[in-house]
Amino acid sequence: MQKIAIYPGSFDPVTNGHLDIVKRGLDIFDRIIVAILTNPGKAFLFTLEERLDMLHQSLQEIPNVEIDTFDGLLMDYAAQRNACGILRGLRAMSDFEYEFQMALMNRRLNREIQTVFLMTGLKWIYTSSSIIKQAAQFGGNIEGMVPPLVEEKLKQRYAQNTTAK
Ligand code: COA
Repeated sequence: MQKIAIYPGSFDPVTNGHLDIVKRGLDIFDRIIVAILTNPGKAFLFTLEERLDMLHQSLQEIPNVEIDTFDGLLMDYAAQRNACGILRGLRAMSDFEYEFQMALMNRRLNREIQTVFLMTGLKWIYTSSSIIKQAAQFGGNIEGMVPPLVEEKLKQRYAQNTTAK
């Protein structure tokens, strides 16, 4: 049976750090479903459609990866997709408490699905979508931190100076 993992997140926007986790996750799982789920605590720069499109374009050459979206509980979605794992990347220590809390709640909701953490590559330890967006907003060079199409999209968005909900 195929080992399927869900890699959930907001992906606003996808970064090279996320792509690194997907590629390395494929050494463990047969198939990864990269899923945009709702984090009610966040306001987004890009619409859901834009985030999906950037993920599709960034991951199109990687086999055994699917992109999806779900509006509900992560563990309901994972069970629905027959996943055996949830894949998450851990960056600096500051991620730990939030990730630990989320993994424990998810385990309480469904004990049959395991959360698997991969250490983020050293290069991406201090990056995040927010910090990249902030640099882009003020004209900073973000080359190499996001796929070129995302870099372009960020430049366009900040030139328009608009935000999405
Ligand atoms: N490289 C670079 N940055 C990374 C990274 C990596 N490898 N891994 C994570 N990040 C960054 C992201 O860019 C993001 O940055 P930001 O906060 O500046 O936007 C941050 O780390 C974490 O975001 P992300 O991984 O996208 O997760 P999230 O916290 O936004 O998403 C959900 C959390 C969507 C998985 C969670 O809210 C969820 O499961 N929602 C569904 C509802 C549910 O089931 N809730 C109960 C859960 S207990």
